[in-house]
Amino acid sequence: MTENLTGKRILVVGGARGIGAEIVRRTEHAGARVVVAARSGTEVRIDVTDETAIAVAAESLGDFDHVISTASAHHDVPVAALDHDKIHAAFAAKVIGPLLLAKHFAPRMPAGGSFLFFSGIVGWKPKPGTVVKGAANAALAALVTHLAVELAPLRVNAIAPGITDSGAWDRLPDERRRALYNGAAAASLAGRVGTLDDVTDTTMWLLGAGWVTGETIHVDGGTRHQ
Ligand SMILES: NC(=O)c1ccc[n+]([C@@H]2O[C@H](COP(=O)([O-])OP(=O)(O)OC[C@H]3O[C@@H](n4cnc5c(N)ncnc54)[C@H](OP(=O)(O)O)[C@@H]3O)[C@@H](O)[C@H]2O)c1
Repeated sequence: MTENLTGKRILVVGGARGIGAEIVRRTEHAGARVVVAARSGTEVRIDVTDETAIAVAAESLGDFDHVISTASAHHDVPVAALDHDKIHAAFAAKVIGPLLLAKHFAPRMPAGGSFLFFSGIVGWKPKPGTVVKGAANAALAALVTHLAVELAPLRVNAIAPGITDSGAWDRLPDERRRALYNGAAAASLAGRVGTLDDVTDTTMWLLGAGWVTGETIHVDGGTRHQ
């Protein structure tokens, strides 16, 4: 992928690690000026559950061509164990956060600009214990169609990765991570889990895909179809 982003300004919320960090690396390599936002650390502080922080960032950081968020909060439990605040946190990261980013950043973006948010395979593959994540990811897919209509000609899209070796799973004990990856590989048509390149290649394409808006692009090795 050789997308030339010279002169473009890009905000990556969640850019300190995982897929977000790789997007920062790839977009900078393509010539973009990238602002990395995270909830802590030395980057710009943006917590997408905090509207004031988003508003202040939109006021103070200048204009962006593209705004990307990988924010997510997990609450993977059976229905009987659901926790009100954790349900809210999951929807705040994946649904309310993107809405608030759109509210505060869209008025400052040029016609060729775009938003890119991160959904996920579980939105299309229900299984016990994933109802919150599944519903939030599916809601995000609906949200991008609505935002795309209201914010046009700005483009609004999502990527829905399958299980991807992004670093996020490194917190699992080796044996559990291996079992997760083996199961995910077997459940995909491609016979493997995703790589950072799989997801960031699609990101780079979407940033320049001026005829694509309101879409959720599935980068899951065909897992939805099996
Ligand atoms: N990796 C996979 O297998 C997979 C599969 C399906 C979907 N996805 C989706 O792809 C996206 C990126 O995943 P990943 O693998 O890179 O996971 P990750 O390493 O857990 O990244 C999640 C990012 O979200 C940020 N974040 C969480 N809550 C936030 C909030 N309230 N405000 C701002 N930032 C917040 C985190 O930043 P902090 O540093 O501030 O915590 C982190 O950078 C996520 O939306 C995930 O659901 C991933």
